[in-house]
Amino acid sequence: MSGIKKVLFVILAVLTAVALVAGCGGGQQAQQEEQKPSDQAKPILRVASDTAYAPFEFVDTSTGDYIGFDMDLIRAIAEELGYEPKIESMAFDGVLAAVETSKVDCAVSAITVTKERLERMDFSKAYYQSGLSIVVKEDNNTIKSFEDLKGKRIAVQAATTGAKKAKTIEGAKVTQFDRITDALLEVKKGSADGVINDNPVNQYYLNQETGKGLKIVGDLLSAEDYAIAVPKGNTELLQQINDALMKLKENGKFNEIYKKWFGVDAPADLPRDYVAVD
Ligand code: ARG
Repeated sequence: MSGIKKVLFVILAVLTAVALVAGCGGGQQAQQEEQKPSDQAKPILRVASDTAYAPFEFVDTSTGDYIGFDMDLIRAIAEELGYEPKIESMAFDGVLAAVETSKVDCAVSAITVTKERLERMDFSKAYYQSGLSIVVKEDNNTIKSFEDLKGKRIAVQAATTGAKKAKTIEGAKVTQFDRITDALLEVKKGSADGVINDNPVNQYYLNQETGKGLKIVGDLLSAEDYAIAVPKGNTELLQQINDALMKLKENGKFNEIYKKWFGVDAPADLPRDYVAVD
């Protein structure tokens, strides 16, 4: 063996030994974890979500956990049905695509039920009523309503109802972002004049340190129902999810989660049948 080959051989041998030792240790640990009776044999529920949409789905920076209203809700539903939920985080357009192509079992991501989407996927009962609002800089005195957005620079999250609405505005320059937080940042920086996005998310953002210097203007531009999306034709899971939602409504757990994130009781009619928007 040449000098170089010898050195390579030794490195390879050491790496193999390390991998073996690490592998064994990990295996034992995994086994121990698997033996917890509560986890045993629970089928996985793969859930797609764009986890940068507080207060519905976002990351707890101190623990790295996915938290929010939607996260608590899907965990409660999974618990009810005996599933182990596995959140798969992706951009919002990816969330919709993942449901459409059955790459996941369902998606919970503050998804509005629209007529267009109903052709591509099925929806559970509605669990939240939302609506779009406009965010501008606090010192902006020219944009007071939807009408004033004509010819303006608007930042939106791609594939959302807010993006669709923005595209109807005459002469507007619409820029799409994967994350709504990046769209909001554009307004803060002055690179965009306004954002059109779900009002509860706008409100939450404005109440954080990062939202300083921004304001919401005008009336809500829509009334939209959020529901859990399921691949078309999976009627069994859809039925299970709906049953679980009604059970959580009856036993008070739905209200508990709602109150935790929104500070008020859930509207008495939720969850209920959805109304799809255009
Ligand atoms: N409700 C809007 C829609 O369905 C926006 C949802 C965006 N959700 C998210 N997690 N980024 O189009």
